[in-house]
Amino acid sequence: MQHIFEQGTKDITLLLLHGTGGTERDLLGLAKEIDADANVLSVRGQVLENGMPRFFRRVAEGVFDMEDLRFRTDELYDFVKLASVQYGFDASKIVAIGYSNGANIAGNLLFRHHNSLVGAILHHPMVPDREATMPNLHGVNVWIGAGTNDFMCPPQESEELEQLLVNAGALVEVAWFDYGHQLTMPEVQAAKAWYDQLFG
Ligand code: MLT
Repeated sequence: MQHIFEQGTKDITLLLLHGTGGTERDLLGLAKEIDADANVLSVRGQVLENGMPRFFRRVAEGVFDMEDLRFRTDELYDFVKLASVQYGFDASKIVAIGYSNGANIAGNLLFRHHNSLVGAILHHPMVPDREATMPNLHGVNVWIGAGTNDFMCPPQESEELEQLLVNAGALVEVAWFDYGHQLTMPEVQAAKAWYDQLFG
């Protein structure tokens, strides 16, 4: 998978997952805001939708190709494991940062793989897979940046995602913003405050 790895000075690795139409460069600045000392592994989505990179196919806006989502999630999981060997980082200390489509595949890593992530910052995620058999997520910390008026994801869906993760044993914090589906600086600052308490 096309990616960037940056070696940091501590044992946490930030896994960066961009939104639709983005690249592995998009969230590098955001990662520096969250933790300038962490390793960074930033991946480009392998699927193209009218030339726009994504992490999995969709049949319409907000309607996922579930088979492709599951396949691509497992592919990303395997890639991250291999990258941890290649670059020598600790695969048990990965915190994902995803926005929109990237948050959805990060969420699905949690839905499918025990121990894939120790933490996740999910900016405007949806419920990735309602048919998943959730693994035990005890010890996993998740922060969700949700929108009161997000056209992609109604508040009830953010609450449903929170509940599914909590039921699986994760510790979840949801923060609400009023800027639609956008990722704004106040949201990044709120995510950083949460991250600093747990991983800073
Ligand atoms: C998705 O397909 O993951 C969601 O619709 C969010 C998006 O990428 O726009």
